Amino acid sequence: MTRYQDYKNSADFILDRLDAVPEIGVILGSGLGHFSDKIENPIEIDYKDIPGFLISTAAGHAGKLIYGTVAGKKVVCMSGRFHYYEGYEFEELAVPVRVLKLLGIRALILTNAAGAVNTDYNVGDIMIIRDHIKLMGSSPMRGPNIDEFGPRFFDMTKAYSVDLRSIARECAARSSLNVHEGVYFFTPGPQYETPAEIKAIRVLGGDAVGMSTVTEVLTAAHCSLPVLAISVMKNMAAGVLEQPLSMEEVIETANSIEEPFSEFIEDIISHI
Ligand code: HPA
Repeated sequence: MTRYQDYKNSADFILDRLDAVPEIGVILGSGLGHFSDKIENPIEIDYKDIPGFLISTAAGHAGKLIYGTVAGKKVVCMSGRFHYYEGYEFEELAVPVRVLKLLGIRALILTNAAGAVNTDYNVGDIMIIRDHIKLMGSSPMRGPNIDEFGPRFFDMTKAYSVDLRSIARECAARSSLNVHEGVYFFTPGPQYETPAEIKAIRVLGGDAVGMSTVTEVLTAAHCSLPVLAISVMKNMAAGVLEQPLSMEEVIETANSIEEPFSEFIEDIISHI
């Protein structure tokens, strides 16, 4: 969508179906949909019904917007997100976060499944994203700038909100999860990385690697929406262990930490 009004139309369609303006947006990563069970009095809207929205094709992603209450706050949750590897252009990947912004949210929480590059991390550990590296591909903000969202050239130095990370660290201390803070390295997928690529990513400063989140963070930074992004280490990245990587492994790890992880996110929401 290239006009501000198109995004407004998508947001107005959603707002017409809600009883209040949501305060916090949440986008759930692969196999992390369990959190949506915490949403009280849910109202669900299929992506396919929302004018101008994208349609989810990835396995382990539901493809609907769920609105409701978590820890006393009005939350709108995307259960199912959109990835470059599905065939979307980077520019199209701006749509969901811009629509969430126009719903009126004041903070966005992103979760994802990632591979651990840092060898001090273990499978099942959590990483609060401090910063990212994206050296390949285009930007969701490429093309004519929509000034209503933000300026042509925009700052990324505080894209990962300092305040939200501080809240997340406090919640981490109360949680049974093993929580780190580190740098997320974006790869386009759908192939996992080669062992040589993982070595290079480690040298460059990446602690975890994944195929999502970064386009959403760029879109949020452009429209001044504070972001908290959290990775779950679903596997050790390629070459760290002897075994090959599989999607089954990713989904299995998710199951074992789903309850503490959902509680962690709920605790964060209660403190935003
Ligand atoms: N690499 C890229 N994306 C991923 C991985 C990985 O090892 N694990 C989960 N998502």
